[in-house]
Amino acid sequence: MALNPIPDLLDALRESLVGVTDGQVAQYIPELAHAEPGWFGLALATLDGHVYASGDADRPFTLQSVSKPFVYALALTDRGLDEVVSRVGLEPSGEAFNATRLEPGTGRPPNPMVNAGAILTTSLVDDGFPRILAGLEAFAGRVLGVDERAYESEVETGDRNRAIAYLMRTAGSLRADAEQSVRRYFRQCAIQVTARDLAVMSATLANGGVNPVTGVQVVTRDTASHVLTVMATCGMYDFAGEWLLRVGLPAKSGVSGGITGALPAQLGIGLFSPPLDERGTSVRGIAACEELSARFGLHLM
Ligand code: DON
Repeated sequence: MALNPIPDLLDALRESLVGVTDGQVAQYIPELAHAEPGWFGLALATLDGHVYASGDADRPFTLQSVSKPFVYALALTDRGLDEVVSRVGLEPSGEAFNATRLEPGTGRPPNPMVNAGAILTTSLVDDGFPRILAGLEAFAGRVLGVDERAYESEVETGDRNRAIAYLMRTAGSLRADAEQSVRRYFRQCAIQVTARDLAVMSATLANGGVNPVTGVQVVTRDTASHVLTVMATCGMYDFAGEWLLRVGLPAKSGVSGGITGALPAQLGIGLFSPPLDERGTSVRGIAACEELSARFGLHLM
């Protein structure tokens, strides 16, 4: 792939989509409602450590569900694949991110990308939030902060996630304290990143677990591969099938408007644009990924 056209292409892509006014900024976490609908940042990180960026690529926002695959990587590291899979399923649920359905019989959440699975996954990481923050910092290659207002906002309003955690407690699948698990999950969702960070984080997965900017081996090659697989099948919830058909890349969305995507052995993509579709995915983010995939021939299939 020729490298020079990338900055121009990102600028042109941004220009062509910045006028899209579809979608709504998330309201159900009150702090997220302050986002400007016009914010739009794009970044692309290649495995030789170059990061190309356009627009609001350095504007901080909260990770929200984009945290899920990276925390899953940490749980796999701490507990091993077999234990994690025995606790959290691997099947696409075809349901919304906040669905309450658990696997009949076992009470396992369907996969680690929906809220139920993410809350359980978070409880499997050793040493609590400091380890989660340090792990995500290693993926991003820099020190990250927590947006305390976004965290408090979700602590105050996140009763649906509490309900999901208590359902998992009664089903026997969540063994840790429900409130503590939910708060740890809210805190991971409130970690602040930029589109540039998201590109580097996915590039780390694409690069067999080695951060291409810092050179640090963050997780093993196997773990990176497992995480990318789950992103491909479950990362977009009830849009996962259509996403894979249209974009053809493992990816993860979040309700603050972030999307991270990876082309294994090639690159990582970071997108930020707050207006969301009805499934909680960035409208411009989807369009930009479709266009990037088509222009660069990134589709895996
Ligand atoms: O748990 C929640 O509802 C939020 N903290 C995160 C949800 C999210 O980002 C869904 N993804 N599109």
